[in-house]
Amino acid sequence: MTVRSVIKACGAYLPEKILTNADLEKMVDTSDEWIVQRSGIRERRIAAEGETTVDMAVKAGQEALTRSGYEGSDIDGVIVCTSTPNHTFPSVAAEVQAALNLRIGPAFDLQAVCSGFVYGLSVADMFIKTGQARRMLLIGAEKFSSIVDWNDRTTCVLFGDGAGAVVLEADESGQGTVDDRGILSTHLYADGTQKDILYVNGGPATTGESGHIVMEGKEVFRSAVKYMSGVVAEVLECNQITSEQIDWLLPHQANIRILEAAAKKLGMSMDKVIVTVDRHGNTSAASIPLALAEAVEQGRVKQGDLLLIEALGAGLTWGAALVRF
Ligand code: ACO
Repeated sequence: MTVRSVIKACGAYLPEKILTNADLEKMVDTSDEWIVQRSGIRERRIAAEGETTVDMAVKAGQEALTRSGYEGSDIDGVIVCTSTPNHTFPSVAAEVQAALNLRIGPAFDLQAVCSGFVYGLSVADMFIKTGQARRMLLIGAEKFSSIVDWNDRTTCVLFGDGAGAVVLEADESGQGTVDDRGILSTHLYADGTQKDILYVNGGPATTGESGHIVMEGKEVFRSAVKYMSGVVAEVLECNQITSEQIDWLLPHQANIRILEAAAKKLGMSMDKVIVTVDRHGNTSAASIPLALAEAVEQGRVKQGDLLLIEALGAGLTWGAALVRF
């Protein structure tokens, strides 16, 4: 018997307001053509005035909870992956726990920027595998619109707001093979020596203000392609599988060209890649659970499908997970 963390249900929340490339043309010196060609992004969602990361996390978390058929009191712990918390403290997770009436148990935020959800899958899986929790609520929620410099055309066209969530549950029916449902392996990395190619120029211990995103796009792009291909090869090797066995590639949604490069490296066609970047932009830690929730809702991802999840973000951080849905 092998204990596996199975994704029981997904939830998503996107703010109503759509910011199109045409809207951005009126704000900065850019064009729809440039944004689409360089990033694949056509529009992104922006939180309403006063709408917070907690609000979005609660909505996505509630949807996942409702779909799982469980009550808040059935959930042993909550992790919110975010770099845009409402406050320096308490955590977004503590507020979500209260709002959804979750059981008194662990509630904390995890900050690994765009790799946050992959890190979160790994941490939640450890809670479940070690028997510390039977069910975990894992949320990715971001309000990047608050840390984007809306005068900087090199970054403001790329990001959006939203939240996605999954309920993970212990399943004891696993045989210890890749045919098991649940999280099969996770692979996490960071290289802090590359912190300066993508960062926010503020924080509580420096400027005392939240600051804005600063990015050397080309360098991040190069790193994303390099580290993603490395970690994906590791997933295949570790699980003794080939890329033909993967049903869906579910990458962090930063740039369509990074997604295409990853698919090409794996010899997978783009119709096996889950893509939302065109409509959501980069929602950092929320992008993977948002994309998963959408693909499940559309009936594309089905129970039993093998998903290869991968992400790279500031830190640099990167990682991957192999999950049988
Ligand atoms: N509109 C028009 N022109 C622009 C814009 C814009 N919005 N932004 C930049 N340009 C110009 C630049 O000034 C430059 O002009 P120049 O040649 O005269 O100097 C030209 O367009 C090319 O700019 P590059 O930065 O070289 O364009 P590139 O093809 O590298 O694309 C991009 C930029 C989209 C940012 C890409 O590098 C990228 O996606 N990088 C990776 C981002 C990423 O993956 N982030 C993931 C992690 S995010 C996180 O963790 C928070």
